[in-house]
Amino acid sequence: MPADALFQPFEFKGLKLPNRVVMAPMTRSKSPGGVATEDVAAYYARRAAAEVGLIVSEGTGVARPASLNDPDIPRFHGEAELAAWKRVIDAVHAAGGLMAPQLWHVGAVRSRRQDWAPAGPYDSPSGLSSPGHKFGEGMSDADVADAISAFASAAASAKQLGFDAVELHGAHGYLIDQFFWEGTNERRDLFGGPTVGDRANFAAEILKAVRAAVGPDFPVIIRLSQWKQQDFAAKIAPTPADMEAWLAPLAAAGADAFHCSQRRFWEPEFEGSDLNFAGWAKKLTGKVAITVGSVGLSGEFIAAYGGEASKPASLDELLRRLERGDFDLVAVGRALLQDPLWARKVHEGRTGELLDFERSAMATLY
Ligand SMILES: Cc1cc2nc3c(=O)[nH]c(=O)nc-3n(C[C@H](O)[C@H](O)[C@H](O)COP(=O)(O)O)c2cc1C
Repeated sequence: MPADALFQPFEFKGLKLPNRVVMAPMTRSKSPGGVATEDVAAYYARRAAAEVGLIVSEGTGVARPASLNDPDIPRFHGEAELAAWKRVIDAVHAAGGLMAPQLWHVGAVRSRRQDWAPAGPYDSPSGLSSPGHKFGEGMSDADVADAISAFASAAASAKQLGFDAVELHGAHGYLIDQFFWEGTNERRDLFGGPTVGDRANFAAEILKAVRAAVGPDFPVIIRLSQWKQQDFAAKIAPTPADMEAWLAPLAAAGADAFHCSQRRFWEPEFEGSDLNFAGWAKKLTGKVAITVGSVGLSGEFIAAYGGEASKPASLDELLRRLERGDFDLVAVGRALLQDPLWARKVHEGRTGELLDFERSAMATLY
């Protein structure tokens, strides 16, 4: 089946995308001291030059002392750090691409390196890394306010540096998701409570602050997931009504697009319909929806961390859903990490040239 549907232009909030292919955010830990290098800029520019419609950067830390759990993940605050990101966006633009930084706070997630600890205490809603697991202290009112403004100033910097959009990392059990998840949010103030709407207030306040910082016309994406790295079976929204209660306040607060993270895009979200998470997000909010999860590959990404290789897989089911209008954009992770030319090869029907995903690709920045 020709992949024409993936190569139709798409526009939202004034962002004119040449096609539907989005590079998924992927942490590479190749920015020593938190400063993106020339190699990082070249890595993104290679994908921009080969028909990736929109690049979402690896997660990049906002200005809180413990927003990151690894010293080699790039920060999105500080003079040297932002100057490095300026070189990245300029390189991507020079190659004809468009790019959003993924603004990130890891929350209560342990350091990836035993020889390194963040500069200050861990942030989390209630001092829990997963249900029942104590990890640091819950954030004070002042901490919460400071975290919200850290996201807003990072978004303002993104716009000022010339990025084309911004994405908030609200998925996978990191800080924003720790607020959504009842298992890690025991607060009973404005930022917690028994309903998912209560627990969405932290993200909503971030979105409002980001929107105020970037103005009405700048595209703002939020990435969400039901699953958590702490619990693959977790669900923020067990029913469509809960999903509406979760997403509607985020849309009202300023989200233009929902980037709906699944490990396998074809898995239905609720019984009785084959719609996936992105399909439901678009149906319930009318906003732009991005799907992701094992596009073009036979195995999923968590297994890839364990060393499992994946083979190229058919795009037919993805195209069926895209053509049906379930979602607008398609994010591709490992296939683009492995091969900067993936989008071009798919566009030109060079399927025989598509590569297996090998874990060794994660070690290099080609
Ligand atoms: C090496 C690696 C790093 C990742 N880092 C991030 C990240 O920083 N932020 C994020 O939201 N997702 C991250 N992900 C998840 C991907 O964005 C994507 O959702 C996942 O890989 C599934 O897509 P794929 O099956 O096409 O690889 C990462 C995935 C990989 C493989």
